This record gives sequence, structure tokens and C-alpha cells, in this order.
Amino acid sequence: MSHFSSSNAPAVTIPLLQEQARDGRRLVMSTAYDAVTARLADPVVDMLLVGDSVGNVCLGFDNTLPVSMAMMNHHLEAVARTKPRALLVADMPYLSYHLSLDDTLCNAGGFLQRGAAAVKLEGGAKRVETVQALVECEIPVMGHLGLTPQSVHAMGGFKVQGRGAHDAVQILEDAHRLQEAGCFALVLEGIPSELAARITHTLSIPTVGIGAGPHCSGQVLVLHDVLGLTQEHRPKFVRTYIDGFDLLQQALAHWAEDVRRGAFPAQAEAYALPAEAHEAVAAWAPNSSTASA
Ligand code: KIV
Repeated sequence: MSHFSSSNAPAVTIPLLQEQARDGRRLVMSTAYDAVTARLADPVVDMLLVGDSVGNVCLGFDNTLPVSMAMMNHHLEAVARTKPRALLVADMPYLSYHLSLDDTLCNAGGFLQRGAAAVKLEGGAKRVETVQALVECEIPVMGHLGLTPQSVHAMGGFKVQGRGAHDAVQILEDAHRLQEAGCFALVLEGIPSELAARITHTLSIPTVGIGAGPHCSGQVLVLHDVLGLTQEHRPKFVRTYIDGFDLLQQALAHWAEDVRRGAFPAQAEAYALPAEAHEAVAAWAPNSSTASA
């Protein structure tokens, strides 16, 4: 079979995304954690992120720290089964890239074997060696700087980063270190827009912002936030386009009410018994059946 056959290849590739960003066309990425959210988002985004935010958005954790490789693999496989056309990026969870390079390569390589086209990991200069090792093994890496949720305790909470001169320059330098190490793109989360703009304009790889203002090469949001499915406090950078939770709950309540008043199911939603079976069923009485004796 030709390697140029496109049946299994995503329509969106890393070189295409980089070209799109260079042409000034903004990139769009959303999270997807299962087949339903993948099918919803795939036709309208450039990149699908199986984010470790699945931990707080879908699994009920307070933060992303409890999310394991087993959980990520489970969600990635569900998304990958839909064969998305968007570039599929899988988030390396806490402790999956911190312990040893062997461990990291195994975990990240496993993501690619399950259908991801790239992995994402958090952190700056201290991740340079890790990024280099992954890229060396043909594993494309998206970096993630600024408010990095896996550092929630080190940061003292989910706080905007890079407001002070020293921290801002540190993030700018980290961005360049990650680009040199081989990252194909960077997520910039929770940093001032001017800093994100400076990073974006001085890098040659695309930046994807979340709470980083309008000057990034693209934007990412958690799909459940965009659709209004999350009930918790939403940060100010989130724009919700539909009150999904309330609308869906109203639909469910309507169904429950129909069941309670006998309006669901209607005859058209049921299966009919053929006439001959109807007679046999009607004639049956307890102890009259030889079949059950
Ligand atoms: O896990 C996630 O959803 C993320 C995005 C917020 C970038 O890392």
C-alpha cells in the first residue's frame, strides 16, 4: 500500500497548521474526551486535544493531578476511534513525563500508537531535554507555558502568570527554549495579552492561547465551557455560546415528565406482536404452558 494513501491520515497535519499560522489564519483547538465530543468538534476545529482537564471536567476531580496514563489512554482511544480529520493531540498527565526519559518515551509513544499525532506537556526550560528526546523519537510535542495546571500547588492556585517583569521575561525565554528544543507549537495559558503577543511575534512556531488575549496564532477552549456544560465557576477568559447544561436538563425533564404521565413511549415507538403470536400470548395462563414444564 502506498504511504501516500490518505484513508487513515488526518486531513490536518502539523506542516499545514504551521503554514496556516504563517499565513495569518488563526488556529482553533478544542478539547474532546470521548467519541461524542470528538464528533461534535471535529468538523469545526483544526486540532482536538484530549486534555488532562478530563479529570476536573468529566471525572469529578478538583484538579488534573489525579489523572493517570490509564485514564488518558481510555479517553484518547475513544476519540481516536472516530478517526478525526483534525490533528489529534494527547495531553501527558502528571508524572507521565517527570520520572525518567524511558518512561516518558514509552508513555508518549503509546499515545501515538493509539492514534494521537502529537503530545502536549507542561513546563519550560526544565523540559528541554524531555522535548528533545521525544522529537528525536519522531514524537511531535506541543509545549504549554504560563498557568500550567499541573503546577497548581507550586503556583499557589490557578493564578495568572507572568505579571512581574522577571516572570514575564522567564516565560518569554522558556518559549524560545522550547522552540529550539523542537516543539511544533506552544499553548500559552493565563498570561497577559501583551506578553503573549511578544512571544507570538518573536517565535516562528504557532502559539495557541487560552486566557492569553487575542494576539496568539490560535485559541483553545475546553469544549464543555464553550457549550455551557460546566457548572463550576468559569474563568473570565471563557466565552460560553449556549447554555447547554440548562437546555439539556430541560429536555431530560420533558422526557421524564412524559414517562410519568404515560405519554412515552407512543405506539409508534414500540414493536408490534404479529397476529399469530398475539393469540398464543393471549391464550397463555400460569400452569397452562407445556413449554415451561
Ligand atoms: O487539558 C486541557 O484542557 C488543556 C487546555 C486547557 C490547553 O491543557
